[in-house]
Amino acid sequence: MKNLCVNVYESIRGSARIVDDVSFAIGRGQVFGLTGESASGKTTIGLSILRLLGNVQTESCDPQRQVSWNGATMSQRQITGGKILFNGLDLLSLSEEEMMQHRGRDISMIFQNSIAAMHPLMTIGYQVGEPKEAHDKLKWEKIREIVFSYLGRVELPEAKLRYYHDPHCFSGGEGQRIMIAMALICGPSLLIADEPTSSLDMTIQRQVLELIKALKREFGLSVLYISHDIGVVFEMSDHVGIMYAGRIVECGNARSVYQHPRHPYTIALRAAYPDIHGPRRRLKGLRGTPPMPFDRPRGCSFHPRCDYAKPQCREKRPRDVEVESGHVVACLRVNEI
Ligand SMILES: Nc1ncnc2c1ncn2[C@@H]1O[C@H](COP(=O)(O)OP(=O)(O)O)[C@@H](O)[C@H]1O
Ligand code: SF4
Ligand SMILES: [Mg+2]
Repeated sequence: MKNLCVNVYESIRGSARIVDDVSFAIGRGQVFGLTGESASGKTTIGLSILRLLGNVQTESCDPQRQVSWNGATMSQRQITGGKILFNGLDLLSLSEEEMMQHRGRDISMIFQNSIAAMHPLMTIGYQVGEPKEAHDKLKWEKIREIVFSYLGRVELPEAKLRYYHDPHCFSGGEGQRIMIAMALICGPSLLIADEPTSSLDMTIQRQVLELIKALKREFGLSVLYISHDIGVVFEMSDHVGIMYAGRIVECGNARSVYQHPRHPYTIALRAAYPDIHGPRRRLKGLRGTPPMPFDRPRGCSFHPRCDYAKPQCREKRPRDVEVESGHVVACLRVNEI
């Protein structure tokens, strides 16, 4: 991905940038982890890769200025610049028909709330097999066998019987397994996992993480792993990008960023996160909240919350600085920290 920019357009407030000049690469068979607080733009990046940003309605943040259409404010996200390169092909240059050939076959996605993401009135067997029908035009007798085998691979209990059940018959953890089977059935080379375990309890979360790791090895998948849980992201990833207010503010090898974070935001996230392998220490919360897209501060967006901020940070936008090979930080004071 090179210099991706996404704007949100609202009927009254105009436009604001929600993904700001984002670049990163995912190596073959590697995991790139994207983390940061809510609303930093992680999901927008995942959806941009599949070109699934559409018209959506959101509640306005500012009710005074809300333009109402059946009680909702109209807004739309749109990619405004950059490239998304997949096997040398810029996905943004494809027609919708060409893009459909890749969506679900070469690149697929699993979402946080799998049960809600499925059709409530169709059997899970049909939904898991449907991408196979769409892309490979196989007959259902054959597809059914393939679905059974994939439901087995994701270790769904009693798969043959439960093939015929609707999504509401499954727990959250089982729903994630079904969605993973659906995502993998066409043999993609890139899997986008957007908060795949965030709604699960700890035990089931661990099982699903281990499953994703095992399947990644088995299928040689490249993975974009998105989560606000920095501990999980560092555990799962080879490389990480730390996002704040639409920008990747620190990016590099996961071990290097974990052990030697250089951006004040990464340092603050690490200080707020318990490290069960490290020495005991008092956790330190991060003050304030992330800015909304229409209220981003000038200069460095992080300056109102930053312990290292100086007056220059209110005016100047930090550029990316490579602090060591492949480890890039966007902070004006990186050489003093
Ligand atoms: N359709 C939309 N209309 C208005 N704002 C949106 C829309 N989609 C996302 N946003 C805003 O864009 C920002 C990034 O959202 P998102 O990509 O979902 O972040 P994350 O996944 O990191 O929580 C947030 O501030 C969110 O409120
Ligand atoms: S540029 Fe300034 S405000 Fe931004 S992270 Fe660096 S020190 Fe903090
Ligand atoms: Mg999200």
